[in-house]
Formats: sequence, structure tokens, C-alpha cells
Amino acid sequence: MSYTSFTQNFPKFLLVFFRDQNTTFKKLINYYKHLKLEYENVKNSYRKFDLEALKDTTEHIPNVIKTKALEHDLHKGRVVIESILSSTTEQLANRNFLLEKIKAYGCAYQGWDLYSPYQQYLNASDYGPLQIPTELVDFLIYCIHKKPASFLEIGVMYGGFSVLCCAVLSKFNTNFKYTCVDIEDNFRDWEYFSSILPLEKAIPATSADFIGSEFDVVYIDADHSYHGMKNDFFNVGRYAKFCAFHDINAAEYDHLDGGTRRCWNELKLSYCQSASILEISHIAEEWMGIGIIDFNK
Ligand SMILES: C[S@@+](CC[C@H](N)C(=O)[O-])C[C@H]1O[C@@H](n2cnc3c(N)ncnc32)[C@H](O)[C@@H]1O
Repeated sequence: MSYTSFTQNFPKFLLVFFRDQNTTFKKLINYYKHLKLEYENVKNSYRKFDLEALKDTTEHIPNVIKTKALEHDLHKGRVVIESILSSTTEQLANRNFLLEKIKAYGCAYQGWDLYSPYQQYLNASDYGPLQIPTELVDFLIYCIHKKPASFLEIGVMYGGFSVLCCAVLSKFNTNFKYTCVDIEDNFRDWEYFSSILPLEKAIPATSADFIGSEFDVVYIDADHSYHGMKNDFFNVGRYAKFCAFHDINAAEYDHLDGGTRRCWNELKLSYCQSASILEISHIAEEWMGIGIIDFNK
């Protein structure tokens, strides 16, 4: 009764106002709950992604299979590198020709989902560059135009990228020398490749062992933390004719003080007025990518 008299006597516009306020408030609460759920889902999927990145996705494959695959890929690697050395510079400067060579050489099998558009390029073993083939070819074509005499790669791991780059670029400059830096020696088939290519090994070493040295090209693919990448650049990258960085889009290193993405974005902004900045990035997701700061020396 009191409710009825209240609703009858209370001005109608005020009743509508309160009713609408109430509905809006409930909607806001529901929306907040929905957002909270979404946030938890995203957080969980990132956690899962991090764990998956850490785990060896090929661990369930028996060692005998891994060994045979590696033997096969190393042999194939020798054949392709020799075929690159017997190719002409005109052939090698052709993007399609070079991409076919990269396909034959093969990239490392790591079980990465985002590699799915590049199945034709994958080796059965983890031998080969840890790069996106089409990003690699465009980087090589860029280097070819510059005909560098010296190349420093910081972080060579198995040497799959080093051997390929060295073979191609040595064809364009008779004085070419390729220096391989890493903190651990995992370089595969070193005896053979160093006998046919102008490779030099600086392992164990870091960019700190080359402070102030001037190379035509410096390729940074070592410590993927923000400070690690920046140290490599400050130690030696900034003295090069051009400095390249791998993983400029790799979100998986964000937890390392912002990782490679933060470092690249800062350097890009700092140098874009005095140097040419190039980004080679072929995967839509936040992964890999090669950045170049060309000081135009
Ligand atoms: C992602 S792998 C390099 C892959 C290689 N560039 C390729 O494309 O095949 C990173 C390598 O950097 C090395 N590394 C890590 N921190 C380093 C540092 N501070 N200085 C030199 N090498 C480092 C690791 O030992 C590892 O072999």
C-alpha cells in the first residue's frame, strides 16, 4: 500500500530516472565482471605461452631420430653452401634464386606454431638459421647491395645463419671476413665450414671484447633482454656502417625489462633523424623481425 501510494505520488520522471540509473549501474557491474574474466583468460594464455616457449617441443622425439636428422641436414648444408659458392653474383643477387637456396638449406625445426606458413623451409633437425626465411632473404639482399668487407654476428648458436650469410656475402667482396661471437661454443661443422669460408671464431666472447671496433655490419641476436641488446649496440653496434637486430617484434622477451621490442623502439626513435631505419617484418603476429639502423657512412 505504501509502495503503491509512493509510486502514485512520486513524480514519474524521477521514478524513470532512478530505474534507468539502476539498470545502468547493473550493466556496468556485469561489464566489469566480463572484463575481469577476459583479463584472467589473457593472463593465463600468456603464462601458457611463456611455459611453452621454454619447453623443448621436440623432447619426445627419440635421440636416434634427432641424430640421423641432424647428420642429414648437416650434409645437405654442406652441399647447399658449396652450391652457393659456385653460383654467380648475378644469380645470388636475385631474390627468388637466393630464396630457393635458403629453402634447400632449410631453417631450424623448433616446433614453433608461428612457423606454419614456412613448412617448406624447415629441416627435420634444429640445424639452420633461427630466422624467418623471407625476412632473411630481404636482409641478405640489403647486405649484398652494400658489399661489406666485415660482418660481426653476436649470438651465433649453431652457426646456421652465420654459414649462410658468410657464403653469400663472401661472393661480393674478396676481402670479406665474418666474425662469430657467442658465450658458448655450439657451432656445428666448424672444421669444415671454416676451411671453405672466411669465418673467424670469437667464442667464448661477448660484444664487450670488441668495444669500439668498426665493422661494416653488426648483427645482434644474443642476449634478448632490454639491457643486453642495448649493451651490444653501445659496445659495438653503433660503430658499424649499419647495425641489424633480430627479434625486433618478439613479444616473448617483453618480461626481460621490456626485451628486444623496447630496446628496438627506443633506438629507432633516437636514431631516425640521423640514420636510415628499416624494418623487415613478415609475420603479422608479434614475432621475430629484423631491424636495421644504417648510419650511411
Ligand atoms: C637466438 S640464438 C642465436 C641464433 C642465430 N643468430 C641464428 O639465427 O641461427 C642466441 C645465442 O646468443 C648467445 N648469447 C646469449 N647471451 C650472449 C651474450 N651476452 N653475448 C654473446 N652471445 C650470447 C646464446 O648462447 C645463443 O647461442
